[in-house]
Amino acid sequence: MNTQVICFANNKGGSGKSTTCANVGYALSALGYRVLLIDGDMQLNLSLSFFSEDDVLHHAQGQENLYYAIKNQKDLEPFIVPAGYENIDIILSSTLMSSIEYELFTKWQRELILKKCLKTVREKKNYDYILIDSPPTLGGWVMNILCASDYVVIPVEATPWGMFGLGNMFEFLEDVRQIAENLRVLGIVVTKADTRKNYFKQTFESLRELGNVNVFQSYIRIDSSVEWSQDNNMPIMAYRKNCRSAGEYMALTKELIGKIKEV
Ligand SMILES: Nc1ncnc2c1ncn2[C@@H]1O[C@H](COP(=O)(O)OP(=O)(O)OP(=O)(O)O)[C@@H](O)[C@H]1O
Ligand SMILES: [Mg+2]
Repeated sequence: MNTQVICFANNKGGSGKSTTCANVGYALSALGYRVLLIDGDMQLNLSLSFFSEDDVLHHAQGQENLYYAIKNQKDLEPFIVPAGYENIDIILSSTLMSSIEYELFTKWQRELILKKCLKTVREKKNYDYILIDSPPTLGGWVMNILCASDYVVIPVEATPWGMFGLGNMFEFLEDVRQIAENLRVLGIVVTKADTRKNYFKQTFESLRELGNVNVFQSYIRIDSSVEWSQDNNMPIMAYRKNCRSAGEYMALTKELIGKIKEV
């Protein structure tokens, strides 16, 4: 199987990108797929889903992180570390990622730097899936992430402002497609759903009726277990294997795999 690269992107902050990326990544590994996670955000949230704050900050200050690799246009393979579970590795981020836009600005073909740095890792086919977490922005760095990906998953919160942000996201994707011709939108996943609210039901239905974009049938409900798992620097399935959220992320992951086979 060729390596499939999937990024999680949405300029709306707090829409569930990092949580979805970490938990879909873990679910894929639990299904026996070989997974590489890449933390593309200065907030370090994907990194913190697997490592303690001390460990993450230690990596972030040295050279063993994505910022150092991208800034110096290095092959990403030496930056990969085991994530602490079977079948899953990670490239950690750095708080210095906050200045990545500035670093990229003067570089030749600046939208394609991540893609080039990832080339060898892809070609070696050591991974079935590479998942990349993005920051809540729509600039040159997110463009890099999208250009390095085969698919984008858009986590969305079913709130009025969550819906508003989606318009900007799709406009940006139209621009990116001019240089990332192979990029496909795998779908919108509704996160942090409060199923008691009519607003959720109505928004979920209207998203599905849009018709021009896949909306995953599996949505992720709001659940404090997710926050507890993050407090313990663990994916939900490792923290509480049989809880409701663990089942929801697994269902989403299976639907996502099916969708990739379809498109
Ligand atoms: N299913 C869930 N149940 C409860 N809380 C959740 C759930 N999913 C995410 N959260 C919480 O919502 C917040 C935002 O989630 P997350 O950090 O994944 O979003 P994000 O899109 O990555 O944010 P940012 O745009 O800042 O990178 C976090 O505090 C997280 O703990
Ligand atoms: Mg995030």
